[in-house]
Amino acid sequence: MKKTSAIGIIGMGTMGKSLALNLATKNIAVSIYNRHVAGKEEGIAQKVLEDNPELKVLSGFDNLANFVSSLESPRKILLMIPAGSAVDQQIEALIPHLSPGDLVIDGGNSFYKDSSRRFHMLAEKKINFIGAGISGGEEGARKGPSIMPGGSREGFELISPYLYKLSATDKNGMPCTAWIGPEGAGHFVKMIHNSIEYSEMQAIAEVYYLLNNYLEHTPEEIANTFGQWCKNGASGYLLEITVKILQKREGNTFLLDLILDQAEQKGTGSWSVNTALENGVPYGPLAEAVMARNLSAMKAQRVAASNIYTRQKKVLSSEKQAFSQLLFEAYQFTRVINHAVGFGLIHEVSKKNKWQVDLSEVARIWTNGCIIRSSFMEDLVTIFKESDELLLAPGLVPKVKMWEKSARASVAQGLSNGYPLPVMSAALNYFLGYITADSPANLTQAQRDYFGAHTYRRKDKPLDQYFHTLW
Ligand code: 6PG
Repeated sequence: MKKTSAIGIIGMGTMGKSLALNLATKNIAVSIYNRHVAGKEEGIAQKVLEDNPELKVLSGFDNLANFVSSLESPRKILLMIPAGSAVDQQIEALIPHLSPGDLVIDGGNSFYKDSSRRFHMLAEKKINFIGAGISGGEEGARKGPSIMPGGSREGFELISPYLYKLSATDKNGMPCTAWIGPEGAGHFVKMIHNSIEYSEMQAIAEVYYLLNNYLEHTPEEIANTFGQWCKNGASGYLLEITVKILQKREGNTFLLDLILDQAEQKGTGSWSVNTALENGVPYGPLAEAVMARNLSAMKAQRVAASNIYTRQKKVLSSEKQAFSQLLFEAYQFTRVINHAVGFGLIHEVSKKNKWQVDLSEVARIWTNGCIIRSSFMEDLVTIFKESDELLLAPGLVPKVKMWEKSARASVAQGLSNGYPLPVMSAALNYFLGYITADSPANLTQAQRDYFGAHTYRRKDKPLDQYFHTLW
């Protein structure tokens, strides 16, 4: 009898291979395919089989037609290849082998508008398409990632039993995957996940830098501080791995001190900023996380400038303990704003596209498996049931009120002593703008009208009326 597989995976890079092994370990028959590029990519799928002889449910291919015919119908094919034109080329190559009702899933970090375009293009051919964000890195893919599928609902029904087995589970044993919405909604939500990831990483980096340089704490002391913060209510994957990173030595040196301070990026953070601008959504703190990476790339200029402009003073040792406590609360405050801003963009774009993304459900599938899982994310599952507007949610307001004071004090102290705090200060600025009922935007409007006759609306007149003054 001809052997058939339940799922096919194209692309045996780190993520594709780990997902294949994850499924095969659960006794799901998987066909794996990797292209053949002479001298570069040869026999890759076969090698996965050889390295995992106990997983008899795996079949390996480097011929696309044979790979597709090894799949049960309707076919379910997961692409785990680099985002961009490679995805379009692979889909084009697959189309002649597919039949109506088959499903193609793109599990890479694709731009959500590309996923929307592919969804509509394949829908015309009656082929289901899902753009699925997958978070958790290599370990997550192997043991249980968080999966954000969007696109064809019919396709989701076909694949969901496997996604449920593949993904991590939340504290109630429910899978960390759920239907996100139509078109590119899945990849859109993954893009914002990454944007929050950037800002959460940058917030930790800012705190680390202050502790290390301003308070002159050693990496080991900072690891202890962060370990304590995790125990005191700020636990999360990113802070936990930071503790381990800070402790890592190479000989007598901390490895961290040997790593070049230029942060790289693959695009999702910047795409989110562009999307926020396109939709007129305030995004300062998360945009600053991208800008901080961009500024970090300017190493030569930074070195030159550091010899010209110097920082003024050091903290008095009697103030150190108090400052560390302030920072803890400022960090918590910044995280609230990071999430408020990121989820705010999800809410806005979902509304505009009529995707009906459920914010509480997004938070739930981010409570495990993904990079931004944290105890705060657990809180958000409940909080988003009360309100879509995080900073107005009654369950969160008392904490924000408490932490905001520390954020003001520590950002002021950090900045006045010459330390860069792009995300923490932008978070505070965002908040201060957000709580300003009467803003100076009236003056901006008046200036626009003065020099450009752009008109303005008035507080004392119906809001659908516009006025111009001969200034
Ligand atoms: C995840 C991550 C992952 C992302 C990397 C790299 O959720 O597992 O978000 O998908 O690609 O973190 O991102 P940068 O290279 O842009 O930092």
